[in-house]
Amino acid sequence: MDVISVIRTKRDRERLSPEQIDWVIDAYTRGEVAHEQMSALAMAILLNGMDRAEIARWTAAMINSGERMDFSSLPRPTADKHSTGGVGDKITLPLAPLVAACGAAVPQLSGRGLGHTGGTLDKLEAIPGWRALLSNAEMMDVLRDVGSVICAAGDGLAPADKKLYALRDVTGTVEAIPLIASSIMSKKIAEGTGSLVLDVKVGSGAFMKNIEDARELASTMVGLGTDHGVRTTALLTDMSTPLGLTAGNALEVRESVEVLAGGGPADVVELTLALAREMLAAAGLGDVDPAKALADGSAMDHWRRMILAQGGDPDAALPVAREQHVVHAAASGVLTTLDAYAVGVAAWRLGAGRARKEDPVQAGAGVELHAKPGDPVTAGQPLLTLHTDTPEKFAYALEALDGAVLVAPEHTAYEPTPIILDRIA
Ligand code: URA
Repeated sequence: MDVISVIRTKRDRERLSPEQIDWVIDAYTRGEVAHEQMSALAMAILLNGMDRAEIARWTAAMINSGERMDFSSLPRPTADKHSTGGVGDKITLPLAPLVAACGAAVPQLSGRGLGHTGGTLDKLEAIPGWRALLSNAEMMDVLRDVGSVICAAGDGLAPADKKLYALRDVTGTVEAIPLIASSIMSKKIAEGTGSLVLDVKVGSGAFMKNIEDARELASTMVGLGTDHGVRTTALLTDMSTPLGLTAGNALEVRESVEVLAGGGPADVVELTLALAREMLAAAGLGDVDPAKALADGSAMDHWRRMILAQGGDPDAALPVAREQHVVHAAASGVLTTLDAYAVGVAAWRLGAGRARKEDPVQAGAGVELHAKPGDPVTAGQPLLTLHTDTPEKFAYALEALDGAVLVAPEHTAYEPTPIILDRIA
């Protein structure tokens, strides 16, 4: 087998054979295929696509590049959730302890933010003392004792994907449906969860800008999960405006705790409960009502135990950025647009995100929203508060928000976008 013939096959719009796929993933993981060769192949895949059989084989080869975890010794059914990433998407924080409080085990292997979307681990690291890096044995202990764990995926899980994802990130080849689907599902299948709910984001703040692409991605991933014996469903959810009222690490932890305390923004509560219901149904616990566990404090109790088990102090004050800048409404009327992508980029520029994997993030940085699309606003009222430790970034963040906030004249009809746009099973 030689790599040039594999690249030519896809360049010429032909199907890759199972042998070609197995060989190229293995050879790339071992360093025999060079980055520039894999980069050419990734671009050929982005341009010419792969059919379902090729995607299935590609995913299996990435799973086989590393270890597989096994949760079969746990006394509870396992359920996991994966979001394709959005702005203000803090849902994993209240969701994992909530679903654990309802009787499932939730092994949530999460990532860090890159670009304009935040990462769950960065958010939780805003809590003093909290540790993302756990050994497999520690992870199992937290799962057994608390029922949910949120931690970084170990290096042994789908190493081919780690290498390929880093390469795609710097070669303009992230946005290929076969590559996104196989990347996400190889990690989830190798992780060994019994059931999985996918939250596929659609809109300006998401990878998938339109619902047709999101549907194709979701049905590809549901098919891959099902073929590997993982009960998998997907919700397509709106990401045209940020979720909740915060984008930024400590700001989002604060909002998640509000949800666990029975309050919080309506859209965050709605999506948390919808995903919890999907996860519980997939785990065979469909008759448990997650709204009760939010109301009676048991989800909060699980959150506190989960944070403590990972070295964090759930009672510690969260970091606050040194400087704030308030953006006021220029006119009275109805807020019709608050663009998710622009808010994500602004939060990132303020220091909440990173440009390179190794960059630090500011725990307190981000954007707080004081109104959501559909709300009436009065000229001069605060619309956004920007938070940062580096105030020289305010101008750069404000540039990102240029044109992102639209206020229409009073009494303009406003048609709200539902949070949940579709379900794929
Ligand atoms: N998240 C992943 O894990 N992989 C992708 O390709 C895109 C999002």
